[in-house]
Amino acid sequence: MSLALYCLTQAHAELAQEQAQRLGAIFVAGWPEQPLAGREQNQHRRQLFAGLQTRITEANDGNSQADHTDSAESVLIYDEHGLALQTLEKPLPGPVRVDFADASLQRRIANGHGAGEAVARACGLRKGATPRVLDATAGLGRDSWILASLGAQVEMVERVPLVHALLADGLRRAQQSAQLAGTAERLILHADDAQSVLRAKLLLPPEARPEVVYLDPMFPHREKSAKVKKDMWAFRHVVGSDEDADALLALARAVATKRVVVKRPRIAPDLNGDEPHQRMLGQSSRFDLYTPRALS
Ligand SMILES: C[S@@+](CC[C@H](N)C(=O)[O-])C[C@H]1O[C@@H](n2cnc3c(N)ncnc32)[C@H](O)[C@@H]1O
Repeated sequence: MSLALYCLTQAHAELAQEQAQRLGAIFVAGWPEQPLAGREQNQHRRQLFAGLQTRITEANDGNSQADHTDSAESVLIYDEHGLALQTLEKPLPGPVRVDFADASLQRRIANGHGAGEAVARACGLRKGATPRVLDATAGLGRDSWILASLGAQVEMVERVPLVHALLADGLRRAQQSAQLAGTAERLILHADDAQSVLRAKLLLPPEARPEVVYLDPMFPHREKSAKVKKDMWAFRHVVGSDEDADALLALARAVATKRVVVKRPRIAPDLNGDEPHQRMLGQSSRFDLYTPRALS
């Protein structure tokens, strides 16, 4: 079944229609008859989504064979803040969108001892060193943004068209913001599979290759854990669990001229069963560092 894209502001209909076409989504004009703001606008949206929730529940009830415990029923929305993925669960979770001005991301960058520093240290950004980084599993681009905000040139690769669209939309808005444009200039985004991008990089001379390849594939999560916020559950549902992630490591080590950094849940087995030369442990996740190694 095709995803629907609800455009919530008439002023953005053209951009929203382009997005829907690119993603093969059904375009729906979901704006109110009169432009609304503030509380009235929120009420209009809640009513619209409540109607959709009811239709989805009825459709699911009519199909008792299906196991919906795992499913996150979602629509795309397009509004004055750009493109977002909205899960239609009760209570309604916040939409998932790429917003590089987001306060929690800004805090990660400003906080010298936080997670932002950990990814930067793992990638070797210190004492003014700003390596060329290839983020082969870009997702919603937060790690890439942190690295770029600290001065690194980052190429991002994302293969899931919907996630790529969310990221491209966030990047477009950042390019238009006086506060964010400087960092956005250091980011390039590819819509591709990282394996083919890495194979193409292998043909380049070392000085043209990334110094660091960063890998943060999705880790398989079996159940709908309470720890996973409802909005991120929709993201997981769209992406899946990157079962082919092991294959990226050998290629990444052949391409990177300085190191490969792999982000894993703290207790997860090593990617591809390969032991790293260094581990940086965090509270719930860790960074595994690998030296470059030619393909055997
Ligand atoms: C856990 S998310 C990455 C989150 C990201 N580090 C961030 O800060 O937002 C993993 C992403 O990598 C993408 N991905 C996994 N394997 C890939 C591959 N071989 N090529 C391109 N993208 C890939 C998935 O589609 C998913 O969006």
